[in-house]
Amino acid sequence: MSSSPSRPTVVLGVTGSIAAYKALDLVSRLRRKDIAVIAVMTRSARELVGPASFESLSGNPVAVDLFPRSKPQQIEHIALADAADALAIVPATANIIGKAACGIADDLLSTVIMAATAPVVCAPAMNVNMWNSAAVQLNVKILAARGWTMVGPAEGRLACGTDGRGRLAPVEEIEAAILKALGWSDDLAGVPVLVTAGRTEEPVDPVRFLSNRSSGRMGYALARAAALRGAKVTLVTGPADVPAPAVGTTVRVRTAEQMLAAVTQHLPHHRALIMAAAVADYRPKNAAARKIKKSGTATALELAENPDILKYASVHKKAGTVLVGFALETDDLVANATKKMKAKGLDLVVANGASALGSDDNDAILIRKGGKPLRCGRQSKRDLARTVLDEVVKLVARPR
Ligand code: CTP
Repeated sequence: MSSSPSRPTVVLGVTGSIAAYKALDLVSRLRRKDIAVIAVMTRSARELVGPASFESLSGNPVAVDLFPRSKPQQIEHIALADAADALAIVPATANIIGKAACGIADDLLSTVIMAATAPVVCAPAMNVNMWNSAAVQLNVKILAARGWTMVGPAEGRLACGTDGRGRLAPVEEIEAAILKALGWSDDLAGVPVLVTAGRTEEPVDPVRFLSNRSSGRMGYALARAAALRGAKVTLVTGPADVPAPAVGTTVRVRTAEQMLAAVTQHLPHHRALIMAAAVADYRPKNAAARKIKKSGTATALELAENPDILKYASVHKKAGTVLVGFALETDDLVANATKKMKAKGLDLVVANGASALGSDDNDAILIRKGGKPLRCGRQSKRDLARTVLDEVVKLVARPR
């Protein structure tokens, strides 16, 4: 079992516009919400504002080098990209906008932008004629089409003495866009939420096992999204293809029986269980203690049924504990998922097809007890996690 802080992290790219000093106010605002900020400053930004100001307000060293001598063991731009729950570029010059749109990665910030998969919020600030130029307008369109959130620029008096569009948007607007991109809210503040993720592995012998293709991405997205809304998350995870997110407490298991034991232990202390793990329905009845050798003839593996963890939870849970299950179906998605909801006594079922396995996207339907199915359409697992949690918030708010 391991514990880690679940504070969200914003990687803040600061580029060389006169408005760079305004990003300091943004750092203070985010820090007041206990959001961690790591500033990445370009060389021109450092000409305008000293990194020490960002360092003291954020409490983190400012990243400036692609290959810092102090951290030879890590690849700085990848570590920063991976750390980001959201990437904000405040202020963004015409230059960084152009580099990002064209895929140029020639310094730390532009390589972080290219390597990051987190949502991006970009607040341009520049001279009005630069902003209106065909190049910048085209580049902004390209980035918006890639899903970037552009905030501003605002109209008004510019640093160069002219009036027009080009001022950095008000910091509170930028902050609001960042919070939205993070999925940050306090609607689950302090609520203990138990999430299972990954797959289980059922040993056949010391070198072989039965398992499935679940990657862990959906469960991890749910755990992270719950933490970003203030929930006290316990993540029970089987093996997965991607690293587990930093959430409150992480319990690692391998088999369905171990997962059942962990869920049984933690469930009484939680208000909701989100069972995203792909639990193997069967395990070899007698796992061999030594490697099974070829016998030269066909053979059969005798299987025993694994416990159904959700069913167990629905029988043993405290009244009012919210139960969310998944249904992976290749046929009759809604009908089969509704059957599972009734059979396992669930409040909500996330129904999806096999195309979700191993993918970053999911095309799910939410089956809600007593409500209409909600077709989410194809979206990233991060966005689906937020939609699922919107429903969990409503369920948790019900009187017990
Ligand atoms: N589940 C569980 N314990 C199991 C099997 C599944 O708790 N032994 C949970 C899964 O985590 C998921 C839900 O039950 O939230 C449905 O899982 P799924 O594999 O779709 O369905 P099964 O119940 O296994 O039924 P079937 O394989 O017949 O579709």
